[in-house]
Amino acid sequence: MEKRQIKKIYKEYVIGCYTKEDLVFVRGKGSYLWDLNGEKYLDFFPGWAVSGLGHCYPEVVKSIKKQASTLIHIPNNYYHPWQAICAKEIIDISFEGKVFFCNSGAEANEAAIKLSRLYGKEKGRYKIISMENSFHGRTLATVTLTGQKKYNEPFKPLPEGFDYVPFNDFNALRKKIDDKTVAIFLELIQGEGGINVIDKDYLEKVNKLCKEKDILLIFDEVQTGFGRTGEFFAYQHFGVVPEIMTLAKTLGGGFPIGAMVAKKEVADLMVPGTHASTFGGSPLACASAIAVIKTIKEKKLLEKVRKNGKYLRKQLEKLKKKYDFIKRVKGMGLMLAVELEMDGKEFYKKCLEKKLLLNCTHGNVIRIMPALTVKKKEIDEAVEIMDECFSSLI
Ligand SMILES: Cc1ncc(COP(=O)(O)O)c(C=O)c1O
Repeated sequence: MEKRQIKKIYKEYVIGCYTKEDLVFVRGKGSYLWDLNGEKYLDFFPGWAVSGLGHCYPEVVKSIKKQASTLIHIPNNYYHPWQAICAKEIIDISFEGKVFFCNSGAEANEAAIKLSRLYGKEKGRYKIISMENSFHGRTLATVTLTGQKKYNEPFKPLPEGFDYVPFNDFNALRKKIDDKTVAIFLELIQGEGGINVIDKDYLEKVNKLCKEKDILLIFDEVQTGFGRTGEFFAYQHFGVVPEIMTLAKTLGGGFPIGAMVAKKEVADLMVPGTHASTFGGSPLACASAIAVIKTIKEKKLLEKVRKNGKYLRKQLEKLKKKYDFIKRVKGMGLMLAVELEMDGKEFYKKCLEKKLLLNCTHGNVIRIMPALTVKKKEIDEAVEIMDECFSSLI
């Protein structure tokens, strides 16, 4: 099919809720994508962090193929080995607890919201505090949890019980807590909000306060999870363990899967009838996730992320020295960004013309999140294109 035809069918038959580039991709491998005409693109934002191991990682492909010909789906009223293995793998690399499987980040957060409400029920506590600038998903509850009016105001009236405070502002958070507060929801690095890293000191204070007041500390690691920051999970850099953690994106290596991990005493509140997902934790999704976790361990990807993240950051710092309009370089591991003085759209478009895929968020923040498997020469290639595009803006 030609591009013109594909676009025409989209226009007629696909709901237009996405801003789209004029690109049709048909193949991917590692850090590269190929379009309909065989043109090659360097992808430094693969699948919005979903294709965390790069496109079509061989072990993931192999695992999906094998599983698809063995058993694709089994409903959750039966057992199957792959969900058991996957849950144990996740717990082995995180904290003592139990896992609920679903299909996306929003669903993982939705599960965490519902579990919080179960936790607070006896004492009539139900309110959740999240951060301004956060992003937690697009279902009605998770878009309400998201502390950005542009995402939730169009859907008013919103569900009750959500409060927002500025990120990294402990006093504001303390003041917002009342006797109905049951949970605090945090991204340790705000992704969509512009790659804002949490202050260690702030996080430690929040943790202490949560313990004092019996408030659940919940980390949304949908974007930061599975090696993105150089540890399996971002919280492992800070030494603060949450009661609940939500996961998705890289976990499936491109295949849809989400998960909520909760400490045992909290997790056990989710008894039959309280929550469910028909597709959640299918053999195919779990086989894909098992391959991802195994790969991160066996290929020592955490070390690679730390090393390549440091290198990429150094190269971006060099660009900052060269171009006055780069305000700062920020992030951790391979979750990096350059914040510009001006709107980032023009730079983003220029990179696109030169076949480098990035992301522009929050108006002036260029998000750079290559695959965990990225090679040094691909980083050099991307930085060279960015340099050319920055120089053309002068
Ligand atoms: C931190 C965070 N939480 C939740 C979500 C929602 O995930 P999904 O789009 O899989 O529902 C996203 C998506 O970008 C995210 O970045």
